Amino acid sequence: MAKKIITFTLNGEETEVFTEPDRALVDVIRDDLRLKGTKIGCRAGDCGACTVIMNGLAVNSCLIPVAKASGCDIQTVEGVADGAKLHPVQQAMVDNGAVQCGFCFSGMVMSAKALLDANPNPTREEIRTAISGNLCRCTGYKKIQDAIEDAAQGHVCMCGKEA
Ligand code: FES
Ligand code: FES
Repeated sequence: MAKKIITFTLNGEETEVFTEPDRALVDVIRDDLRLKGTKIGCRAGDCGACTVIMNGLAVNSCLIPVAKASGCDIQTVEGVADGAKLHPVQQAMVDNGAVQCGFCFSGMVMSAKALLDANPNPTREEIRTAISGNLCRCTGYKKIQDAIEDAAQGHVCMCGKEA
């Protein structure tokens, strides 16, 4: 397919790529834009490792042709912290010991952030549903769910003090 210029907002910055429009968004993010935080697992929409937020929704970027991102607002895990200060979801994951190998972590954070951006006070069931597309082979999910609940309730230690 002939290359095209495609523009979108990535982590708050206007971004332009010149590429084949049918390439997967995850490949453009990782290989062209050199943001390696978004991971690739299955390339089939089954694992959630490639989750990014597109126009407020958590999506599997392995399934999205980059042309579909044209004009969209996209967030990756690189865009969620505030400088050196982790996003509350990230901090809560650390505080709860919810990360082991870390492979699922960026996708998990993006699904959790999309949930809390839309619904700051989710039920446990809503948390489970929000991360149901994110496979974690290490943790058994309980600590991840606890962490998202803590982030939602503001029980996140950001500097040694209760936030
Ligand atoms: Fe996209 Fe698994 S790599 S869902
Ligand atoms: Fe290893 Fe989730 S921490 S896959």
